Amino acid sequence: MTDKRIDDRYSTNERFTTLRGIEAEARKQLSPVVWNYLNCGTGDEVTLRANTADFDRLTFRTPLFAGISNPDTSTEFLGHRLSFPALIAPFGGGEQLLDPQGHCATGRAAAAVGVRQIVPVAAAHSLETIAAATGVAQMFQITFVGKVDSVLAMIERAKKAGYEQIVATYSPIRQWRERMMEDRFTIRTAMEDANYGPGKSDPEMLREQLAFEHPRWGWDEARAVIENSPLPVIVKGVMEAEEASRCMEAGAVGLYVSNYGGRSIDRMPSAISALPKVRAAVARDTPIIFDSGVRRGSDIAAAIALGANAVALGRSVGYGLAADGEAGARRVLELLKSEFWTTLGHLGCSRIDQLNEAVFHA
Ligand SMILES: Cc1cc2nc3c(=O)[nH]c(=O)nc-3n(C[C@H](O)[C@H](O)[C@H](O)COP(=O)(O)O)c2cc1C
Repeated sequence: MTDKRIDDRYSTNERFTTLRGIEAEARKQLSPVVWNYLNCGTGDEVTLRANTADFDRLTFRTPLFAGISNPDTSTEFLGHRLSFPALIAPFGGGEQLLDPQGHCATGRAAAAVGVRQIVPVAAAHSLETIAAATGVAQMFQITFVGKVDSVLAMIERAKKAGYEQIVATYSPIRQWRERMMEDRFTIRTAMEDANYGPGKSDPEMLREQLAFEHPRWGWDEARAVIENSPLPVIVKGVMEAEEASRCMEAGAVGLYVSNYGGRSIDRMPSAISALPKVRAAVARDTPIIFDSGVRRGSDIAAAIALGANAVALGRSVGYGLAADGEAGARRVLELLKSEFWTTLGHLGCSRIDQLNEAVFHA
């Protein structure tokens, strides 16, 4: 990166100059019910608000005369060099309502900017279609529910298609999303109304994944899959220190701190407030992904300083996808990367491994 890049921010020919502009365009493009689907949380949305409010409470120290010129935003994560410590979070089911290309588009955007994507089992396209459309190694998210053998078979299928890690999720029961209830919105109906056919990985498997009547797994089943999985497993939704240790004992290779963007159950703490204790509970070299509430390059810096190795981007990338398809998703990543670079410089860091608790104002 050179000084030219700094000038570029003000004289760019790009359609969007800020993340705010992208979000505003997304809102214009989407119908109010799809906008609500993308943005809603559960209950009174206390957790949804806390996710961003707790980032806003964090303040930085900015050292004088730190002698920094051009920070290196890149990092090594799970065997890949990322151009900055970001991943695209799995947002499955209704992503074609944002753009027909869904996770194929976001995967291409990720590849263009040098980051990786986590493809959800509920994606509108099959895992093979998304792998072929993007041509890069990705991670695959699967819910730990249903028959152990079917989940293992699905992981084998993901491996064959080139996926390198599994993100395991647990979803105990249906969520209470009042905005969607008020709108009488269901993804299935909306997808049918938009004439989107079944491009899913495996409709049968998906039914099993989404059937909340199905008995949920305990630790024994989870451990059995982690131990026998042909791909390394990262557990998503870890918010407590004891559970972090338990996942690692069960054979996970990494953890993913998240409250699903406040979409799971209300009155969970913000994800950023849970991150330090999860980090403290596991070895320094345990990879930790973080999401829920990341909207800015400075949020990324704060999450890395509190112990994450990479952050995942959910709604932020969703806004880009809705605003301008693949180009919009790419622009979101570029702007976040650029703002992260600026943040690093102001914090006196020339590399991301210099981000730690000392960057915060006492
Ligand atoms: C529309 C939508 C669909 C989602 N679908 C999934 C999914 O299929 N699997 C999953 O693990 N997480 C899913 N999530 C949660 C995201 O992966 C991520 O945890 C969350 O968006 C992070 O919060 P943020 O968007 O506020 O940053 C979804 C999120 C949204 C907004």
